[in-house]
Amino acid sequence: MLRPNGFRILCISFANLLAGIAEAAFLVISTGIALGVTTSDSSLEIFSRFDMEITTSLWLAGAFIFAKFTLGTIALWLQSGLTESVVVHQRLKITELYFGSTWEAQQDAPTGHLQHLLLGFSQEISGLLNSFNQGLSSMLSLMALIGVALFVDPFSTLIAGFALLILGIALSPIRKAIAQRSKRTASSQLDFAHGIAEYSSLGIAIQSYGVSEPVKQNLGRLLKVEGKARRKMEFTLQTITPVYIASAYIFILIALSIVSRNETMSLDKIGPVALLMLRGLTYGQSVYFFLALKRAMTGTFEQLNSTMDFYSKNKLRTGREEVTGFNSLTFDGVTFSHKNGTEIIKNASFRMKHGEILGLSGESGSGKTTILELICGLRSPDHGCILINETNLELINLNSWQKNYSLVTQEPRLISGSATDNIKFFRNNISIEDIEKAAQDALYLSDSSTHLNNLEMHQIGEAGSQLSGGQKQRLSLARALASKPPLLLLDEPTASLDIESEEKICETLNNLRGKVSILIVSHSENVLKICDRVIYLEGNSIISTDSSSKIES
Ligand SMILES: Nc1ncnc2c1ncn2[C@@H]1O[C@H](COP(=O)(O)OP(=O)(O)O)[C@@H](O)[C@H]1O
Ligand SMILES: [Mg+2]
Repeated sequence: MLRPNGFRILCISFANLLAGIAEAAFLVISTGIALGVTTSDSSLEIFSRFDMEITTSLWLAGAFIFAKFTLGTIALWLQSGLTESVVVHQRLKITELYFGSTWEAQQDAPTGHLQHLLLGFSQEISGLLNSFNQGLSSMLSLMALIGVALFVDPFSTLIAGFALLILGIALSPIRKAIAQRSKRTASSQLDFAHGIAEYSSLGIAIQSYGVSEPVKQNLGRLLKVEGKARRKMEFTLQTITPVYIASAYIFILIALSIVSRNETMSLDKIGPVALLMLRGLTYGQSVYFFLALKRAMTGTFEQLNSTMDFYSKNKLRTGREEVTGFNSLTFDGVTFSHKNGTEIIKNASFRMKHGEILGLSGESGSGKTTILELICGLRSPDHGCILINETNLELINLNSWQKNYSLVTQEPRLISGSATDNIKFFRNNISIEDIEKAAQDALYLSDSSTHLNNLEMHQIGEAGSQLSGGQKQRLSLARALASKPPLLLLDEPTASLDIESEEKICETLNNLRGKVSILIVSHSENVLKICDRVIYLEGNSIISTDSSSKIES
């Protein structure tokens, strides 16, 4: 995650190291000054080696404070840049992987996970990176302090360094416990994110069935599980500090008892070393806290990695052959099952020619929508093949195929914005004339609610919440017509319309006869009447096509 930021991290480390050295030097000089004042000498012995005037030492100490402050601020500034870069990079990577994955994979991912990934994870990562700076700067300051202390008194410094190491080892079981608890916390957070996303999309169903109480209780349960898991993890994480401090104090006591027996030690050595060690202990504390905090992210990182893994494994693969126009569509012995093993389409064969209006009918759950998804390349057959203009769909570049058809899904998928935004649907090459024509053909404009007639100005609400079911369906149809594709795939496009509107839509489709090929899923007599042929599905097989066509399955 930090790899692309190597240079930035190097700069942060360097600035922190210099800041640490400046601080260590300040501490040594200032204890020297304090000792000098008590012995009323006008010159000092710094590092037990250099003689220096008190005034010079004061200036020098001041210069070191300034250096420490400036370098520390530079490190902080670089650090905020690092956090920004990592968070943005990570979010872009997840977004890219998500949108680059197959539709099946996107459908399989539980609701709310992507949002949680993009918001929750990024926040945690930025929290960790902030403490990374503290941990890193403490680590380097500690190294600088140890370096300076080694210069003053190697023996005591080595003992203190050894004590710090023992402390680190002693804290390791706590860090392991934190990692375990972090996994539990992260998975309960995901459950909660999924719950809130799912329940909040149920709106009217919850209200009309009067089930807000049990829904609230379910959410409350998820919240409590998450809260408990988080509390346990945070408690364990926070114990790092008191355990560290208590153990460090015990070491100090031991060190003092050794020093008190050693009469050869002089005050000018013990003074600076003691001060450096005390400061070193605080640095050690933030280093160990950072290491523990890193463990507290174990669950989060594991989920992040497994999710990114999932999307990379389910990358959308596409062929190279370009499609220009639509001549024919052939299903040749196509069999398709969902991952759970249910066979939906069994050995289906049929052919559709250019300019044909083909109906697809059959009982609910018989696989009509699945056939449309297969044609779009959203799903791939397990056996058999789908040919577009005699080329296997697997070899075709899906992007170029998408430009040749429009799919009107069974449930309209609308975006918040105006009717124009929805008809245009991110396709900037569609002109305003095409939008108006499509809205007219799809009867969106002839709606008796006159406020809809202002395509540009009228905001339709989130996911078309201010429209009726039929209006949403007509808007979806307008979206499909606007790009004037050679093939229209319509999944029960008139299911929410009154008879009169349905007849008018049929008229629109009839007017396209010969120019546009249309595959239309419907149960309606009116719609099936305009079809050149109708394929009927039952169970998972094509059972018959109407009189004018041949059965090929
Ligand atoms: N993602 C899925 N995983 C497993 N089974 C599914 C999935 N989507 C749909 N199905 C099943 O596939 C069958 C066909 O669905 P569909 O093509 O939508 O039917 P139709 O459009 O004819 O009503 C149904 O029995 C449905 O239960
Ligand atoms: Mg369907």
